[in-house]
Amino acid sequence: MLLKKQNAVQRYELGAEVSRPKQMASIPRTAHLAIIGESNSGKGSVIANIIRQEVEAGGEVWFIDLKSGMEAENYAAVLDNKAYSLQEAKDLLSAFNMDVDTRAERWRGQVRTVDDQHERHRLLVIDEAADLIRSGSDKKTSDACVESIRSALSRSRALNCTVVVSTQNPRVSTSLPYRSLLLTTLALRLNSKSEAVMALGEDAVQRGARPWQISFNRPGDGYLWDSESNTVRYIHVPFMTDQDIHSLRRPGTDDEAGEATAGARSHPTNKLWGLLRRPRKG
Ligand SMILES: Nc1ncnc2c1ncn2[C@@H]1O[C@H](COP(=O)(O)OP(=O)(O)OP(=O)(O)O)[C@@H](O)[C@H]1O
Ligand SMILES: [Mg+2]
Repeated sequence: MLLKKQNAVQRYELGAEVSRPKQMASIPRTAHLAIIGESNSGKGSVIANIIRQEVEAGGEVWFIDLKSGMEAENYAAVLDNKAYSLQEAKDLLSAFNMDVDTRAERWRGQVRTVDDQHERHRLLVIDEAADLIRSGSDKKTSDACVESIRSALSRSRALNCTVVVSTQNPRVSTSLPYRSLLLTTLALRLNSKSEAVMALGEDAVQRGARPWQISFNRPGDGYLWDSESNTVRYIHVPFMTDQDIHSLRRPGTDDEAGEATAGARSHPTNKLWGLLRRPRKG
């Protein structure tokens, strides 16, 4: 199976460096990313920019938002799958991993890395990751979600799937038990140096990351840390308004405002998806 017609976007542009505004900072489209920052630090902005680029590139977007979908539902027109409760998250993650298995079976022994030529890129966004970590009667489901995320993070990159996780809480135990599998981190405004060390690690702080010094009136500012290349960059992610987000549409589709299109699909190309969505005449 060969897929054509996806734009060959290999990186997500996150924003410009604050001290060198012409210098754009980007991350590989296949790099799993942690976005960590206090409330109102701009995590939603980062997610918006990434989803916009994923949609433009013709990829799929799956979204877990346990804040009752208040963030995710703004993207309803471009979501391929979504989960707004813990049980839905468990089901979505298991569907994600089943498809990773299918991709592996299909391409094993043929290519070492699956890309857009072989399979449609899939972006999984998990907003407010700490909400997935539960105790009490929800613990079993919560543990299953964490195991699924671990599995997704460790296997999916080579199979053209990327996971982006956002949280206010940098603690491994109560927010990001799979922290070590997220090799790229964007730390937006944080409360303290110790939170920065938790979010980014000592190395990043030693190399100049100072997220606790970002001011309240600079949402969207953050330190981008790539633990593979050991580099830190201080960047500003551009704002996307609610209107920008609501007007996102899959390329090749008619501008049918507000039509939510939930449910996993695996259409071979967006162009075909556009044709399928076109209302029948007569
Ligand atoms: N990149 C940006 N540039 C300028 N202003 C921004 C930017 N991102 C966010 N803001 C402002 O900050 C507000 C909060 O942003 P956002 O919702 O993205 O934060 P958040 O970190 O996701 O917060 P929460 O944890 O409460 O969900 C926005 O409503 C907007 O006013
Ligand atoms: Mg948010």
